[in-house]
Amino acid sequence: MKVTICVGSTCHLMGSKTVVERFQQLVEQHHLEDRVELSGKFCMGKCGEGVSVTVDGVHHAVAPSDAESFFEREILAKV
Ligand code: FES
Repeated sequence: MKVTICVGSTCHLMGSKTVVERFQQLVEQHHLEDRVELSGKFCMGKCGEGVSVTVDGVHHAVAPSDAESFFEREILAKV
């Protein structure tokens, strides 16, 4: 599964660093290093709705406070 987090300036201001760090911790915690590939990308053209995250190409907007529940719902449950 390929998970890409936007690190463009708007998403950075909305907390993309927190989302990246939380996802990294959760991937480690669930031993998903071989199954989930995390990467960063600059502006995905969907600024302002939340931090842009794509999961296998599907776009989502994630609030940093929702990073863990998003991970459980969209990544852990589907990987
Ligand atoms: S900065 Fe993230 S979508 Fe534009």
